[in-house]
Parts: sequence; C-alpha cells; structure tokens
Amino acid sequence: MKKIIALLILALVFSAGNSTDPITALRERSKDGHSLFGFERQLGSLWQNSVTCGVCHAGLNVMDYIMGSKIVRKSLETTVSLICSIFSEYEVCHGAITEMGDVIWPQIFSFLFGAKYSCSRFAGVCASPKYITLDPQNYIDRVLSDKPEFLNDNNYVDLQYQKIAQDKKPRKIVKVMHISDVHLDFNYLEGTNAQCNEPLCCRASSGKPKNPEDAAGKFGSLADCDLPPITGEMVFDFVKSLDEKPDVLFWTGDNVAHDIWNQTSHENSDYTVKISEWLQEHLGDIPVYPTPGNHEFFPVNAMSFDEKDDVIEQLSKVWKRWLDDDAFELFKKYGYYSMPLRGETETWDGFRVIALNTETCNHQNWYLFSQLNDPGDMLAWVEEEFKKLEQSGEKAFVIGHVKPGEDACLYEWSMRYRALAERYQHVIVANLFGHTHTEDINLFSDSTNENITHMVFTPGSLTTYSDHNPQFRIYDIDYATGYPVRAHKYFFNITQGNLGDPKWEKQYELTEEYGLEDMSPASFLKLTNSFKEEVGQVTKYLWNQNGRAFDISKYDCSDNECMMKYYCMIRNIIYLESKDCLGKKRLDFIYDLEKSLYEWFFGPWVEKIE
Ligand SMILES: *[C@@H]1O[C@H](CO)[C@@H](O)[C@H](O)[C@H]1NC(C)=O
Ligand SMILES: *[C@@H]1O[C@H](CO)[C@@H](O)[C@H](O)[C@H]1NC(C)=O
Ligand SMILES: *[C@@H]1O[C@H](CO)[C@@H](O)[C@H](O)[C@H]1NC(C)=O
Repeated sequence: MKKIIALLILALVFSAGNSTDPITALRERSKDGHSLFGFERQLGSLWQNSVTCGVCHAGLNVMDYIMGSKIVRKSLETTVSLICSIFSEYEVCHGAITEMGDVIWPQIFSFLFGAKYSCSRFAGVCASPKYITLDPQNYIDRVLSDKPEFLNDNNYVDLQYQKIAQDKKPRKIVKVMHISDVHLDFNYLEGTNAQCNEPLCCRASSGKPKNPEDAAGKFGSLADCDLPPITGEMVFDFVKSLDEKPDVLFWTGDNVAHDIWNQTSHENSDYTVKISEWLQEHLGDIPVYPTPGNHEFFPVNAMSFDEKDDVIEQLSKVWKRWLDDDAFELFKKYGYYSMPLRGETETWDGFRVIALNTETCNHQNWYLFSQLNDPGDMLAWVEEEFKKLEQSGEKAFVIGHVKPGEDACLYEWSMRYRALAERYQHVIVANLFGHTHTEDINLFSDSTNENITHMVFTPGSLTTYSDHNPQFRIYDIDYATGYPVRAHKYFFNITQGNLGDPKWEKQYELTEEYGLEDMSPASFLKLTNSFKEEVGQVTKYLWNQNGRAFDISKYDCSDNECMMKYYCMIRNIIYLESKDCLGKKRLDFIYDLEKSLYEWFFGPWVEKIE
C-alpha cells in the first residue's frame, strides 16, 4: 500500500519538474512570476483571460461547496480512516483524522485548491492575485549584507570561550535549569499493559498485560507510555532540595499526553496548568520562561497565525504570572515573546530571553499551507530583536521547542533563520530546545555550512516516551558573558524506582563525560569528528541520550554506516544537509516519503501581489 502511494506521488512529482530536485524545479519554473503548471508563458492572453479565469473560479467554488458538505466529508474521513486502520487501530485513526480534518480540509479545499490561489498560482488562468516565488538566497544575502567585519571568521563564540579560559581569576557562575517534553499522563494507571500496540499505553484502555514484566510501573515505564504525575511532581521537590538551586528555569514545551486521537484544547491546556501550579508550589521564587511545543496545540501541531488560537489564549492566562506586559501581549497574539532575563537572586543585566514559537516551522502544522512567507512574521520580528540587542550591546538566550533546521522544521524557514543566527552570532549566548526527547548536542553552522557558529542543546525529556529514563539539565552559566560552561544531567532511574527506590539524581557532567576542554563549538566539533572515527563514541552517546535506560550493549553503533549516520546528523543540524553528508538524495519519495512530501507541499515561499 505504502509503495503504491509512493509511486503515485513520484509520478506526480516527476510531472511537476525535472528529476534533480523538485523544489528547485518548482522555484525555477515560477521565479519570473509565472504560474507553476499553466501555459500563460507560451499562450499569453489566449490562456490567461477573464473567461478562463471565470471558469476556473466557478469550477473550484463548486468543488469547494461539495467538499464542504457534511456527507462528502464524512465519507472521505471514513475512507481515509479505513486505509489508516491497516497500519493502526481504527479507533485511533478515526479520532486523529476527524480531529485533523477540521484543519486540513479547509486548508486544502478553501485555500490550496481554492479559486483565488489555485487559478493564479497553479493554473495561471487568472492574472491576479499574482504570486512571486521567492529565492531564499536573496534573503540570506540581504541579511548578511551588513555583517560586521569582526564576524567574518564566524568564530566569535569560540573566541569568547578562549577568553574565559585565559582568565586566571575565579569567575562567577550561576545555575540555570532546562526542562522539556514533560508529557504528563493524567490517565496513567499502574499495572496496565505497557506493551499495548497503540500509540500510547499504560492506561486503563491498554488492558491487562499478558506477561507480568509488561505491567506499567508505579513511577513510569520504559515503553510507549507517558509520565505518571507522581514522578513529574518529584522533579520539582528534588530541585528545591538542591544545595545550589537554579536561578532561572527554561521550559520548552510539550506537556500533554500522546493520546493525540482523543483530545480537546481544554484538556491539553490542563496539563500546562498542572505543571505551572507545581512550579509555583515547589519553586515559587524562580522565574520561569516557558514556550509552547507542538503538542500543546489542538489538534496536535496545528496553529493558525491568522485566527485567535484557543490554546495560546489559555496558556497566556496561566503564564501571565511570569511574562511582563509586552511579552504577554505578543505571546497572546503569536505564541512568541522577548523579555529581559531576571533570576531569583541575580539581575542578569544586559541579557534577554527570546522565546520562539516553532509552530512557524513545524512541518506537521497544516496551517502553514496558507502562510506563504514567514509564518506569524516571526523571522521579521526576531531580526528586529537581534538588531536592537546588537545596538544596545545586550545578549540573548534563545529558547524554543523544535530545533531550527532539524527534520521536523521546514527547510525554507531554517535556511533563513540560520542567516539571522550567523549575522547576529555575537548576540546569541545559548540555544535551548526540546522535541526530540533525547539529550542531544548539535552543531549550528554559518550559512555556507563551513564553520560552526553555535551549539544547540536539548536536555532530553521528562517523559519516558519511548524507552528513555526521564532527564533534565542544569547549566553553569559564566555570569559575565552568559555562555554555558558546564552542563549537569539529572535523571530518574525508572527500573530502580519501580523496584522501590524512587529518586532523581545526577548522572554526569557533560564536559567530564566526554573529556571536553570547554563547551565551545570548537570543542564539540572535535568531539563530533571523533564520532565518525573512534568506535565506541557513538554507542556511549546513544546510551547517554536515552538516560542510560538499558544496558549500554543495547545501543551498539560500531559499524561505519551507523557511526556516519550520527556524525552527519550532529554535524549538520539542517536536515537536508545531513542527507548531503550521507550522500543521499535530499528529497526521496520512496525511502523518505513523509519528510519529502512536507518539504514539497510547503514548497518555495511566495510573495502575494494583489
Ligand atoms: C477519550 O477520552 C475520554 C475522556 O478522557 C475517555 O473517557 C475515553 O475512553 C477516551 N476514548 C478513547 C477511544 O480512548
Ligand atoms: C572555517 O571553515 C574552513 C573550512 O572548513 C576552515 O578551513 C577554517 O579554518 C574555519 N575557520 C575557523 C575560524 O574555524
Ligand atoms: C538503574 O537501576 C537498575 C536497578 O537497580 C540498575 O541495574 C541500573 O544499573 C541502574 N541504571 C543506571 C543508569 O544507574
């Protein structure tokens, strides 16, 4: 089935352009302002005139009307659910598809195949509105055109770490905590089946386990299960008990259980409310800087930047206690904000938090169909923020959910964001993200992908989903410069907890664990190079990424192919460039269908001219 769909799509893509790179082909085809598939270039007004345009509008309006009818929609949803149930439970498929349908149908039939867009952009029979295809290189060139000379070597951050290292006097260190991907499950039930063959187990609906060792544990399960509240709340008690408490807490989203086929916006928000209450109860004096993940939204991943979003509205009420007025107003509208950094005891003068809303690049956010250029105007906003900070000499902690460039983040957005990060490399002191559930290191490069300008870190998830020990990080920050100099990883040993000794504890400090000189990009580049050269390095990395959930032998990655896979991923945060590194095709409609489709669907950005 999957192969047939893949072949059909392949045929479609081939017919849309030449075989090299379909996105480049689309961009080339329409860069002069002509349509993607029409013949107005050859036929002129014979093709593009008021009659053909009128017929197109009438036809698509009728189709929109038919597709909008309840009966057609219900039968389409049932058909798709039936196809989906070949791969998963019907209940799960139907729930997810009807939930998603509310977003996807209007986006496809009213926008993508709607008269206004389709007749002009696809068919070219209408002259207006006109859509000009944008070349990201123009954006990159513009952003870099006034890059100051002292950044020419793209090694500003490395030089700062060298200065820190050369200073022989003791330097002031302040602790900062980062948690992500809590994914609590209010319906987690001890003793239920942890191996249930549904997307989320360990609930009453998962049934009883056949083997006793498959029973959901009291404190969590190394399986497709989310975090029982008891283990979640213990994190904050634990942090309160630390001798050196963090001064600031960054919290990068995904608080909701993975039962994505059976949710509401209110139930989703309840998870964020609960965690926010715990933070208040246990760590009331520590300022918290939160961002939404893709799972906060309802349906999952879906956020429109044109209409008010229910979830953002509800989160803004809960998070108002931590946001200043400007941040609150901006957050309520777009889900992103910028705010001066303040700690429990430190003033952090000269530092700000820039909290991105990565729904702007999330490739599963179906609303991006109609966001043709810079969704939510976030890139324009970030650029302004960075520029202001450059002028005032301030620095930024950048936080968000999906890592810029990773496979879940669209290429069109990532390339442009990277230009901003290169141009303002001296402004950014840390990039703290989540989403992957594993404790990752990633190198972030300049626009030509030659030099490493920054590091991007994810702390791993609090949820065990799937097969991880819960984990989080506390950084030692060099207070004068804002750069992280040590990263302490804490974890909860699920196996040990369920055997009767539940506790959060330190696992290691990152630079000690890997024998790094410091946390500079240069040090991590050295480490990353060792991943393709020294057998054992990647195995250890994978073991650590998962919070050492199982014995290290389970994570064996000793052959060249496996080692190269991780080397390329860590070295190249931009997903399509990691495929270049592996010698694979950027878009591959057979072996990498889903990702290739997203990149193709959300294709080149355009500018609309009425
Ligand atoms: C959906 O959620 C409701 C309320 O949480 C629950 O009662 C019901 O059993 C769930 N249905 C499925 C199919 O999981
Ligand atoms: C930048 O990258 C180039 C090519 O890999 C390398 O030769 C050069 O030394 C790097 N520059 C710095 C400052 O690291
Ligand atoms: C977790 O606990 C189990 C059971 O006590 C033990 O065998 C295992 O080594 C522990 N794992 C880690 C990473 O400490």
